[in-house]
Amino acid sequence: MESAMKKTLTILGLESSCDDTAAAVVRNSRGGQSDILSSVIYGQLDLHQYFGGVVPEIAARAHAEKLDTCVEEALERARVKLADIDAIAVTAGPGLIGGVLSGVMCAKGLAAGSGKPLIGVNHLAGHALTPRLTDGIAYPYLMLLVSGGHCQFLLVQGADDFIRLGGTIDDAPGEAFDKTARLLGLPQPGGPSVETAAKTGDSTRFKLPRPLLDRPGCDLSFSGLKTALRRSCDQIIEAKGGLATTDRADLCAGFQTAVAKVLAEKTKRALTLYLNAGPSAPVFAVAGGVAANQAIRARLKTVCHDLGVTFTAPPLALCTDNAAMIAYAGIERFRLGLFDDMSLSARPRWPLDQTSPALMGSGKKGAKS
Ligand code: KG4
Ligand code: ZN
Repeated sequence: MESAMKKTLTILGLESSCDDTAAAVVRNSRGGQSDILSSVIYGQLDLHQYFGGVVPEIAARAHAEKLDTCVEEALERARVKLADIDAIAVTAGPGLIGGVLSGVMCAKGLAAGSGKPLIGVNHLAGHALTPRLTDGIAYPYLMLLVSGGHCQFLLVQGADDFIRLGGTIDDAPGEAFDKTARLLGLPQPGGPSVETAAKTGDSTRFKLPRPLLDRPGCDLSFSGLKTALRRSCDQIIEAKGGLATTDRADLCAGFQTAVAKVLAEKTKRALTLYLNAGPSAPVFAVAGGVAANQAIRARLKTVCHDLGVTFTAPPLALCTDNAAMIAYAGIERFRLGLFDDMSLSARPRWPLDQTSPALMGSGKKGAKS
């Protein structure tokens, strides 16, 4: 317990649950100030590009090959030695099992070799705790995690205390943006290209659905929107023989507006639930690649403003997969005395909120679930 009260903690974090191999060193003073001393990320985009998605076996092999270098580089850049580290934190799930295993095995080796404690971290907790790393946000806050693999509302009450208020029952919004871009022949990643095309489009030309808005609760769905978009696209091609630039722009604008509207409405509902608990300084945090979308961001900001809630979004580099968030989650677990031993196992599925029913849809795919 004495060590948990240490004034300053320096933790090495490892992340390898999907297609980024990452290591980082984060230092935290007992006062709450956190500094990212280093954050190294080796992406695998080029390895998977040809296959149109992440290939688990290729990912696992690349993680196993890169982890050691990544750790060495993170320590070097942070100008610390393994002996200066207080603990080793590692993503123990959820994710692609081969990659998670590589990370866990590497962390166990480091812990055994150095005699430092080992801390298994839930990847989603890493994302969810990022606003505390970047802005020192106090508990409880509401978080919307919205990316290519995640879409859920989390009431963050503590480092090991999350309530999932709702999530997607099928695709994640980023996935829907990527599929939309593919359908319209726009470059990947789809989010930025759809956003750019939407700027000159008429969002009212196509009647696209607003999935699940007619049902109570905070769950979301995006696959029906994607199907409706395909139908509109097919109709134009049938009538005109192809898509003109204006058609693409109108389809993108219609799609983006539908996603923004659904996210804003469900955010309003999630915020209402959160506010019912009477937080003294309510904060809403959004994280994930889709949070980069200006139209979506503007709508979410307006919802927060109308309800008197502070809006915050960590910088994009810390919203996407990284190891600094894992090191930071490790710091919080260290302070709570939550350590693991050599029996730590890699978990392909690991819901943050064990009390909520399991999510369907994108959760099934494992990666970034
Ligand atoms: O958080 P992230 O880098 O990785 C994970 O999926 O975990 O998110 C990537 C996703 C992609 O699907 C990408 O198309 C989407 O975020 N994205 C955007 C924008 N920028 C990235 N979606 C909408 N608008 C954007 N400007
Ligand atoms: Zn992630």
